[in-house]
Amino acid sequence: MIHPSSIFLVACLFLVPSSTLAATISSTPAQTITGIGGSGAWWPHDLFQFPEATRQNISNLLFSQDGLGLSSYRWNVGAGGVGVENPGRAPETFYRGAGNYDWSADPQGVYFLTAASTRGVTDLTAFANSAPAPLTSGKTSCGSSFVDGKVQRFGTGNAFGTYLAEVVEHFRNQGINIRYISPINEPDSDFGPVPCGQEGMKVAPNQRAEVVNGLWNALNSKGLANTVGILADEGNNLDAASSEYGTWLPQVVSKVAALVHHTYDFPSDSAYLSYVNSTRTSYPNKPTWMSEVCCSLGNADGSGRGWSQGYDPTINNALMFSGLVFQSFVVAQEPHYDFWTLVSGGIGCAPQNNATCVSNPNTNGWNDGLIYYDSQYASNRNFQFYTTKRFWTYKHFGNFLKPGSQRRAITGTGATNNMIAVSTSTKYFVIAMNPTNSATTLTLTVPDNACGVASYRTSGSEDFAKLGGASKSGGNWNLGLNAMSLTTFEFNRVAC
Ligand SMILES: *[C@@H]1O[C@H](CO)[C@@H](O)[C@H](O)[C@H]1NC(C)=O
Ligand SMILES: *[C@@H]1O[C@H](CO)[C@@H](O)[C@H](O)[C@H]1NC(C)=O
Ligand SMILES: *[C@@H]1O[C@H](CO)[C@@H](O)[C@H](O)[C@H]1NC(C)=O
Repeated sequence: MIHPSSIFLVACLFLVPSSTLAATISSTPAQTITGIGGSGAWWPHDLFQFPEATRQNISNLLFSQDGLGLSSYRWNVGAGGVGVENPGRAPETFYRGAGNYDWSADPQGVYFLTAASTRGVTDLTAFANSAPAPLTSGKTSCGSSFVDGKVQRFGTGNAFGTYLAEVVEHFRNQGINIRYISPINEPDSDFGPVPCGQEGMKVAPNQRAEVVNGLWNALNSKGLANTVGILADEGNNLDAASSEYGTWLPQVVSKVAALVHHTYDFPSDSAYLSYVNSTRTSYPNKPTWMSEVCCSLGNADGSGRGWSQGYDPTINNALMFSGLVFQSFVVAQEPHYDFWTLVSGGIGCAPQNNATCVSNPNTNGWNDGLIYYDSQYASNRNFQFYTTKRFWTYKHFGNFLKPGSQRRAITGTGATNNMIAVSTSTKYFVIAMNPTNSATTLTLTVPDNACGVASYRTSGSEDFAKLGGASKSGGNWNLGLNAMSLTTFEFNRVAC
């Protein structure tokens, strides 16, 4: 005998057609997108040693529209690597003393900064993990602290600020229009003791205003204070950021262009909203954005996120990571998103010995890259690149959420936080993710004239596959969302 509830269940299954998943794009804009990017740490040191044709290829993969089409790039201004044991994480410094610079230093970082600039990346940031070693408490580039004017009669705020401002002025004079300086990346840790795994300088919350003042004064004296914005304080997580702002930010809030944060706490939606709500209340009109994250395992639906070792190049992790991007843009309504290192040697296996290992998860590697290279390249001369599914999903954001485009809220029974719509003067783009194992169809209402012209899908078996535009029925658009996929739907803003 069939239980009545089973009949009801079967009936429901037949009644779940696409029409129940309906959504509408708002006719009014939300925030304006300003950048999609990631950092040049620390792969430039390795990739600079690759053949020139290969270096050009990786630059295209990152910065050209044929590749990720990034609009933001964070160049790591080295502190000389004093005390850092891993040479690949010890970027050279220009600093030879006050006003004395060696502009031939850091050819690795400058190469890829230039590659980004010549390919039209507009949002260029210079960020420092430490002041040059001679300026820090222990004369090292890690395991030391910022020396402020309370510790020493002449604090180093002005010297450090002058250094960063003169570096940026030098490259701007070469046509590389660096727009932002972030002087203190993850200031709560010195990443010590020496020997350290990377550069880092501890800058206590009550020292941060001196750093910002020193940098702002230096920029101002060069006439750059309105051209080059100061980003701070790149706290490792949202809790640290918001609990420390009160100590330093009110003194210098007018000198900071944006409050940028990392999300290594992998916040819940409500924790993220609580951060942005309280920050917007205390510091009105000061944008916040996400400037660094990596290294999480977890599932496509976002469960199981958290910082950890482990390499997962599959669609599972790519959708998990896409969920983080949606969270910053859709839940927190921030304007800008940067991943961490973009390119990594942390595959966790030897691709020359096993051609399939790069496409399969392992526990030895790290999810700190979108593109990978063989960490043994120097001895085995393997200069190949390996793209993960994270590369292909991030390409959707890099290719279609361009600076100046405006997000439009999506509402309705079918709307989720895993979809974003943006408009430009001529296009709508809708990027939507289905992290489940069954295909669905979303019926979408667009507020004015539109014509579906193309779609692009990344799934377990497709890498940004170009497909036909959304089809129209009864005045609405049907967006097919395959199981475990991310799809972009492109519309022209004219009637078909
Ligand atoms: C560069 O990329 C092109 C296009 O993907 C490829 O055909 C070529 O082999 C690559 N060359 C190198 C040196 O990586
Ligand atoms: C944050 O603000 C939004 C919009 O005003 C509100 O809907 C949300 O409930 C707030 N969330 C928290 C955690 O304060
Ligand atoms: C190659 O890598 C795959 C996936 O990581 C693994 O399952 C397989 O055992 C490896 N093969 C060898 C010969 O090590």
